[in-house]
Amino acid sequence: MILCVNPNAAIDKTVIVRSFQLDEIHRPEQVMAFPGGKGCNVARALNTLGEQPVVTGWIGGGAGQFIESGLHREGIATAFIETDFESRTCLSILDPDRNTLTEIYEKGEPVPPEQVEALKIRFREVVGTCAAVTFSGSLPAGVPVDFYAQLIAIAREAGVLAMLDSSGEALRLGVAAGPDLIKPNKKEFNDLAQRALVSLNDYAAAASDISARCGAVVVLSLGPDGALAARGSHVLHARPPQVDAKSAVGSGDCMLAGLTYGLTHGFGLEDALRYGVAAGTANTLRLGAGNFTLEDFERIRPGVTIVRY
Ligand SMILES: Nc1ncnc2c1ncn2[C@@H]1O[C@H](COP(=O)(O)OP(=O)(O)OP(=O)(O)O)[C@@H](O)[C@H]1O
Ligand SMILES: [Mg+2]
Repeated sequence: MILCVNPNAAIDKTVIVRSFQLDEIHRPEQVMAFPGGKGCNVARALNTLGEQPVVTGWIGGGAGQFIESGLHREGIATAFIETDFESRTCLSILDPDRNTLTEIYEKGEPVPPEQVEALKIRFREVVGTCAAVTFSGSLPAGVPVDFYAQLIAIAREAGVLAMLDSSGEALRLGVAAGPDLIKPNKKEFNDLAQRALVSLNDYAAAASDISARCGAVVVLSLGPDGALAARGSHVLHARPPQVDAKSAVGSGDCMLAGLTYGLTHGFGLEDALRYGVAAGTANTLRLGAGNFTLEDFERIRPGVTIVRY
């Protein structure tokens, strides 16, 4: 079992509207709605890889019910804490004629302190039964910025692998708590490194530095250029095969799922990285975050090339 911490649950709603215009009434030709939040994407990807994920975080109201029952329908278990306010809906308006994507994300209400504490208690109860925990995304209002750091400390005490994919201060404090792996993208990594990184050499040196300092494997994802993985001075560069990418939204989440699958199945870093890159790349072939087929993943995996950097 793998616990996927998803603090920012939302309904991810996409409407397809041709010739979208401000000040007009539109009747979408297609409406899609899925349980969303980066932890849900990780869980969906793990489920496709044949793992048993459990999603935790906060949900509330009718939108919360939609998120929870949607995950159950996908065969994904949940251990949510209920809030007395409605979960968010994030609306994406996709216009295939103009090739635009307009995104309207609700901010969400602050999580009250009792419910922050309730999640910590639930986490403590569940973590020991899991092979790994993933922490994904930003923290909603009301949640202390060191929340991931606190949960990583609990996971470490329980001897459970902690995999962190966040940004800003939550990532910085999380790193100091000693996770086993972090997966920033370029922007998140530039913020963490606090220096302007330009070349692949710069990125490799900084990844190696940060890994040596905090003891975590650093997997820095580079979009279509694949990823660098550093375990101290040992740095690998993985490149995916060329694909006809449709949407890379959630590719980082799928990469985290692939890495988690690998590390919980006793793979070495190189094979776990290959799984991560193949899952991230497979995700680009279809619309929807964390949405790929095992066939695409298996087809892409042997085409991932890995070299020592
Ligand atoms: N255009 C692409 N073509 C091939 N593979 C891609 C492409 N974009 C992403 N990937 C794959 O997905 C992995 C993760 O992508 P990326 O670096 O975009 O993550 P991210 O920015 O964290 O994404 P998100 O946070 O939306 O999930 C990459 O390492 C790569 O393997
Ligand atoms: Mg990401």
